[in-house]
Amino acid sequence: MNRSKSVHRRTVLQAVAGTGVLLTLSPGLLLTGCDGGVKAVESETLGLDSDEYDVELNLHAMPDSVPILPGAPSEVWRYRAELLKGPKNTVSENPDSYLGPTIRLRHGQTVKIHIHNELPEDTTVHWHGLHVPSDVDGQPRLPIRPGETMTVGFEVLDRAGLFWYHSHAHGKQGGRVGFQSYAGLAGLLIVEDEEEADLKLPSGDNELLLVLQDRTFAGNNELVYMGRGMGSMMDRMHGFLGDRVLANGAPPTTRKVATRPYRIRVLNGSNARIYKLAWSDGRPVTVIGADGGLLQEPEDRPYAVLAPAQRLDIWVDLSESQPGDTLELISDRFQAGMMGGMGMMGSNALPLGSRFPLARLEVSKSVEASEPLPAQLGVQRQKIPVNSNTRIRSFELSPVMMRGFAMNGRRFDGTNVADDEKVRLGDTEIWEFHNNTPMPHPMHIHGLQFNVVGRRGGSSDSLQQGLVDSGWHDTVLVMPRETVQLAMKFERFDGLYIYHCHNMEHEDAGMMRYFQVRG
Ligand code: C2O
Ligand code: CU
Repeated sequence: MNRSKSVHRRTVLQAVAGTGVLLTLSPGLLLTGCDGGVKAVESETLGLDSDEYDVELNLHAMPDSVPILPGAPSEVWRYRAELLKGPKNTVSENPDSYLGPTIRLRHGQTVKIHIHNELPEDTTVHWHGLHVPSDVDGQPRLPIRPGETMTVGFEVLDRAGLFWYHSHAHGKQGGRVGFQSYAGLAGLLIVEDEEEADLKLPSGDNELLLVLQDRTFAGNNELVYMGRGMGSMMDRMHGFLGDRVLANGAPPTTRKVATRPYRIRVLNGSNARIYKLAWSDGRPVTVIGADGGLLQEPEDRPYAVLAPAQRLDIWVDLSESQPGDTLELISDRFQAGMMGGMGMMGSNALPLGSRFPLARLEVSKSVEASEPLPAQLGVQRQKIPVNSNTRIRSFELSPVMMRGFAMNGRRFDGTNVADDEKVRLGDTEIWEFHNNTPMPHPMHIHGLQFNVVGRRGGSSDSLQQGLVDSGWHDTVLVMPRETVQLAMKFERFDGLYIYHCHNMEHEDAGMMRYFQVRG
């Protein structure tokens, strides 16, 4: 790949006939890249600074051009990586996709990552779900300027689980998370540990990774995102919905499988779309893990809800199938009502709550495999203990006329932290989100994994039975009018962190705040 060419390439503003939306991947300024005269600036290592690291890699955020649909390739922004040190399987590239490489880490490893910004605007990289020092967290307060390199170091403290990394840029003109992630700046990060390895869950070819994202394309396969005009107001209000769904950066495909169990690990990497995961033959969805790793025991659900930024770990046993059988993982129909503007967004070809396929499994061979699903999964992390004396901190989510949503009446205000956004290191608290809006909000808290204590007041809509609340999470879907309580403990790291709605358009419009952990 000719990097200097892609850095210098200028993407022309694309006015998309009829829709009035624009996507520009290079907003008018011609960037001179690292090899073109601007001196690359190398920071000191933020976070963990040590002489020795188990893993070291380069991560480039860069423009590229990749085939997504048949026909012309699409201009994207994406991550590429080079492993400098560490086990060979640490980095697996997704060369034919805009998705960043899948990064596999082990609990206890020390990691050093040099992030090179080869984009024409500021960016950051957030390690979504990881318990890392504030300076390493990819927050907007520490942008990486075009042409600059930032080096971050951290120890992998989390237990095994499926995490991900994505852009978290938010500048003076507002948030760029939606735009940059949509353009392709996202990838999977897997943490492995002994406890999980001992369970001998399906691995290798028997572990399927699935990144769900929705996208809209114009005639020549250009990605289309919303513009800044009035026409996009609905998109900003509800969050951007693409008119087709991509699995791992491509239209959903058929996967040949055998008569055995599979582990399917799914990330919702969409800007705003909520998925209702179900099997085409109506069998229950067996959930074995969530954001923060394995549940204590498997749970059968009629369907499982996956909100933006959430992950689910699903077990499916095809031992009883015959060669020739097929099974589809689908997103099933649900009543979005006010929540996603069914009807209000009549222009979208794939409204929230539509039914569509995500992956097709085709049984092509018989094997003898006896791998029973363990009755006990994750046992090593005890739930955060809370009782009637635990401090409750409440946040009301409310609409702001024409400007998105607020939390306790506040919107994003740089690193300003209000008095009731300061917590003490070492404390356990219950955070309570009360959703006083007609829309669901996937609320995400940086730097930790929490337990869901309970919910009350939500309407009994068509998603309730699929909300997986057991286990460990970093993102929770708060339904309209609902109150959700989360138990969390502020451990190890003090400093600034963020909490926000992970509907990226909500977040970018200001539904995001810093909080401070005081040592
Ligand atoms: Cu996945 Cu603050 O984000
Ligand atoms: Cu929201």
